[in-house]
Amino acid sequence: MERTPLNTRDRFAGYSPVSILLHWLTAVAVVTLFLTHEDEFAAIHLGIGILAIPLFLFRTGWRVARGYPRITDQPAIFNFAARLVTLAFLLCILTVSVTGLAIPPLEGDPIAFFGLGAVTVPMQPNRALAEIFGEAHDLAGHAFLPLVALHILGALKHHFIDRDAVLVRMFRPVARGK
Ligand code: HEM
Ligand code: HEM
Repeated sequence: MERTPLNTRDRFAGYSPVSILLHWLTAVAVVTLFLTHEDEFAAIHLGIGILAIPLFLFRTGWRVARGYPRITDQPAIFNFAARLVTLAFLLCILTVSVTGLAIPPLEGDPIAFFGLGAVTVPMQPNRALAEIFGEAHDLAGHAFLPLVALHILGALKHHFIDRDAVLVRMFRPVARGK
């Protein structure tokens, strides 16, 4: 069966170059942050987190502002599940960003950046809130695992079973795309 080609002149068919760059930078950042979440890498994790936050916030706003390309031709439940997974990604990204930055000051620690500098936020430590934020961060952080698994399975289903352009469209931009 022929693969359905990507119409790169149809702006509802795919993503803009900016979206594609943001997608793959996000994927690298999320994987790196996941791999550094154990205690012994705490300083690296925080430093990379600080670098990733502007990217995370920008890409979330960018997606909300731009919307998604056209849904693909498959049973509605699959389209619904796919959208749910990417929305859950954006929600988890927001949650780890806000809580990750708030935890050090809530614990009375400075926000340190790779030993290059540190900012002490003038606020009262609040260990109870730090605990709750820590739980939320842990939960959202681990939620990436099943989400990434579903997301990759979906991408592979599209590419090898449906033989449509869904995986291709996260590599090849379309003119004035989403
Ligand atoms: C996808 C991205 C991220 C994942 C998967 C992730 C995952 C985790 C996990 C699983 C922990 C251990 C939680 C615990 O033991 O309570 C942790 C801790 C931490 N993360 Fe992240 N994180 C991410 C992004 C960030 C970001 C953006 C920041 C902010 C700068 C950040 C800052 C922290 C801090 C400060 C801790 C220590 C929390 C504590 O002392 O309990 N993380 N992270
Ligand atoms: C932690 C890693 C990843 C995250 C957080 C992530 C997140 C997202 C998000 C939020 C979207 C919606 C569009 C956007 O806002 O950019 C998306 C779309 C997409 N992602 Fe990922 N992604 C990750 C990894 C991957 C990987 C490894 C693949 C390839 C197997 C992949 C393939 C795709 C494809 C093909 C789309 C387009 C789906 C569509 O247009 O319906 N992603 N991803």
